[in-house]
Amino acid sequence: MIFGRVKPLDAILATAEKKSLHRSLGAFQLTLLGIGAVIGTGIFVLTSEAAQKAGPGMLFSFIVAGFVCCVAALCYSELASMVPVAGSAYTYTYAVVGELLAWMVGWALILEYAVGASAVAVGWSNHAVGLLAASGYHFPAIISNADALMAHVQMAFGAAPSADLLTAAQTGGWINVPAIVISLAVMSLLVIGTTESARVNALLVCIKIGALTLFVALTLPGMNTANFTPFMPTGSVGVFGAAASIFFAYVGFDAVSTAAEETKNPQRNVPIGLIGSLLICTLFYLLVASGAIGAIGAQPVVGADGTALPPGSAEIAGRCAAIVSGGSVEPLVCSKEALVHVLQVIGHPIFGWFVGLAAVLALPSVVLMMMYGQTRIFFTMARDGLLPAKLASVHPKFRTPHIVTFVTGIGATIASAFLPVGKLADYSNSGTLFAFFMVAVSVMVLRRTDPGRHRPFRTPLVWIVAPLAIIGCVALYVSLPLTAILVLPVWGALGLLVYFFYSRARSHVGRGTVEADGEADMTAVKA
Ligand code: ALA
Repeated sequence: MIFGRVKPLDAILATAEKKSLHRSLGAFQLTLLGIGAVIGTGIFVLTSEAAQKAGPGMLFSFIVAGFVCCVAALCYSELASMVPVAGSAYTYTYAVVGELLAWMVGWALILEYAVGASAVAVGWSNHAVGLLAASGYHFPAIISNADALMAHVQMAFGAAPSADLLTAAQTGGWINVPAIVISLAVMSLLVIGTTESARVNALLVCIKIGALTLFVALTLPGMNTANFTPFMPTGSVGVFGAAASIFFAYVGFDAVSTAAEETKNPQRNVPIGLIGSLLICTLFYLLVASGAIGAIGAQPVVGADGTALPPGSAEIAGRCAAIVSGGSVEPLVCSKEALVHVLQVIGHPIFGWFVGLAAVLALPSVVLMMMYGQTRIFFTMARDGLLPAKLASVHPKFRTPHIVTFVTGIGATIASAFLPVGKLADYSNSGTLFAFFMVAVSVMVLRRTDPGRHRPFRTPLVWIVAPLAIIGCVALYVSLPLTAILVLPVWGALGLLVYFFYSRARSHVGRGTVEADGEADMTAVKA
C-alpha cells in the first residue's frame, strides 16, 4: 500500500533519546533564534514588491501572511513538542501520513530552505551594493544583478521587446556576483563547522531590531496620511498576491522547531519560541510598513496599459530605470533596498547607511540558518535511506555533513546568481506553503489515529485552527504568480521520479531497518 509506510513515532523518539545533542536552549533563546531566522530579506527588501502588488493595502497583506503563519505555527508546535527531533515537517509527516508524503514534504522543503537561502543572498547583495555606493564605490551594475539576462530570456521566449524590456536589457546586469560570494562564503563556514552561537545570534537580533526601531522612529512621526490613499489600488487580489509574496518575511520560524532536539523542556519552550517570535516580528513589520508608506508613499508603478507591472520582472526594472533617468525620485516599489531608500529620500542618508550596514551584517546569518536547515533535512532523509548514504557522510576532520553542504551551497549559489529576489522568494514560498499544509493535516490525522498519546502542547481549538491553516496555505498558494504556482507540481513530479526510481527500494522503513538510523552522529555540527 502506497501510504502504508509510516515511521513509528516510538522509533523516532527512541532515536532522539539515543542521540546526544546537548539540551541547552531555553524559551528566551528560542524566541531569539526565531527572530534571528525570521527577520531578513522579507522586510528589508520585499516590502517594495509587496507595495508594487498591493499599494498601502500591503498592511493587510502583512496581517494575512502573519495570521497564516500563526495558525500554522500552532500546528507546528503540537508536533514539535510531541516529536522533539530534528527534521522538522519532514519527520512529523513521516510519522503520521507516511513515507511518500513525507518524501514530498522533504522535497518541498528543499524549495523552502535552499531556494530561500538564495533569496536572502540576493537581498544581501542588494544591500552590499547599496552600502558601497553610499560609501562612494559604485559596484558595476553588469555584475550586481541579472535583470539584463532576464530581459533577454523573456524576449528570446517571445516577449515583445517593449521600451521597458529594452531598457532593462541595456541597463541591467548579467550575473549577481555579490550573491555568489556570500552564498559560497556561508557554504564554506558550514563545511568547516561554523554554526552561529546563541550569543552571536542575540547580537544580530539586537542589530536587526535596532535598525527596524530606528526606521520606525524616523518615519512614523512625520507620516503623511494622504499617502494611504488610494489604500487598495489593486483590490483584494493585489492584497492576497502581496500576502503570498511577503509570506517569505515570516518564513524561518520553523527553525525553532528544528532546534527542538537541543531545547530544554521542549514541551513548554518550543511553542513559546515559535509564537513569541512570530508575534514580535508581525508587530515590527506592521510598524515598518506603515512608516514606509507614510514617508514616501507606496503606489504601484504601472505599465503602458495602466496596470501594475509584475514585481521582479524585467519590465519593471526597465520602467524604474527610465523613471530615475528622467530625474524623478525613485518610487518605493522600484527600490532594491526598500528601507534604506526611504531614509535616503526623507533626508536621513546617514541613518540609511546604518540600516544598510545592519542588513549587511545580519542577513548572512539568515542565509546560514536556511542553508543549515537544508543540510539537516538532507541529512535526515539520507539517514532514513531515502537519499544516498554518501550524502550523510560526515567530514573526518570537521565532523560536518560536508557533501550535503556542498550540494546545498552550490545549488543556492547558482540560483542566487541568475534570479531576482522576488522570484526566488515566491518559489521558496510555494514549497513552504505545501510543508505547512501537510503539518496542519498531520496534526488532525494524529488526533484521530493516536488520540491517547501524550501531547505536551495541544493546538488550541485544533478543529478550527488546523483547517484555518490549511485554507490559509491554499489561499496564499493560489495567490502566488503563475510560475511560482507551477514550480511546486513540476518540482514535485521530479521528486516522485526520484522516489519511485531510487528511494522507495532503499528506504530503511521499507526494509524494516528503522533502528539503524540511531547510529548517525552529527553532534559535532552543532558544537
Ligand atoms: N524570513 C526570512 C527573510 O525574510 C527568510 O529573510
